[in-house]
Amino acid sequence: MKVLVVGGAGYIGSHMVKMLDKAGHAVTTLDNLSNGYRDAVKYGEFVEGDIADEALLNQLFSDTGFDGVMHFASYIQVGESVEKPSMYYRNNVSNTQTLLDAMVEHGIKNFIFSSTAATFGEPEYTPIDEKHPQKPINPYGHSKLMVEQILADFDHAYGLKSVSLRYFNAAGADPEGELGERHVPETHLIPLVLQAASGRRQNITIFGEDYDTPDGTCIRDYIHINDLCSAHLLGLEHLVAGGDSRAYNMGNGQGYSIKEVIDVAKKVSGNDFDVLTGPRRDGDPARLVADSTLLQAELDWKPEYTELEMIIQHAWEWEKKVDSWQ
Ligand code: UFG
Repeated sequence: MKVLVVGGAGYIGSHMVKMLDKAGHAVTTLDNLSNGYRDAVKYGEFVEGDIADEALLNQLFSDTGFDGVMHFASYIQVGESVEKPSMYYRNNVSNTQTLLDAMVEHGIKNFIFSSTAATFGEPEYTPIDEKHPQKPINPYGHSKLMVEQILADFDHAYGLKSVSLRYFNAAGADPEGELGERHVPETHLIPLVLQAASGRRQNITIFGEDYDTPDGTCIRDYIHINDLCSAHLLGLEHLVAGGDSRAYNMGNGQGYSIKEVIDVAKKVSGNDFDVLTGPRRDGDPARLVADSTLLQAELDWKPEYTELEMIIQHAWEWEKKVDSWQ
């Protein structure tokens, strides 16, 4: 297949580009490098540019007959989205529509969309399946749900087929050690904990220890980056084979608390570090765990790296190489 990966220079996109290339597909990355890194794109073609640039999209889509587009180019910070909603709706919704319009114009029918658990808002029950009401509680979640809605309408009107994958907590790194997580600023738990383990940070602060969970800290569903990417590939294969549009929740199905993550990080790294307790962070549900039964049943997805220790081991190998990528 010929695949365009939008946001292929970012954390998830760069792993996707590698997986597509290794599977024998012709991959092109389009990335404006606002949050990605040119040197993270180790496979395929690279085009620097923005999905807001209609002329560039028209040129790309005229020159290459892509079988599908995977879209990873979003802003992802919940707190920032509350402070700067315009930025989130502009990039995550308006610019995505520009991309979809160009696809429709050029007859490119298959789209894989990075959605999020944040489209559900405060969980009414866990594990969260696809029937759970979608009531986002922040602009980030709203922006992703709006695109899911646009996709349903574009399918109906224009026949654009899509698979939306609602990620829970993407984590880990390339098992071969070539790629990893590189956000600036880093806000995610596992990379921050590993920075404390390597001595790049002095300590880690747990945001709240008084939740209604067994050890009082929040429970999340960490899914290995390669398992996440393999679902995207299955989604595209499903669409290219003529399958209809779908939306799936995607996680490990297994929840781990913040304290469990910290304990495993200490074990994997062999290093001790200070753990502080701070106040709760706004908008953090106590427990977010995915029910991925539908994805497994319908696309035959089988997560390979389900153990938290393995996920953290791969992230730790990447953290240890910080001098080579920072
Ligand atoms: N946490 C800490 N200390 C830190 C950082 C995080 O205690 O220094 C806690 C958070 O409060 C949360 C847990 O660790 O309870 C995980 O936090 P992350 O920021 O790593 O991940 P989130 O669960 O908040 O975010 C993820 C995705 C978002 C998505 C959100 C809701 O990264 O894009 O799930 O689905 F919006």
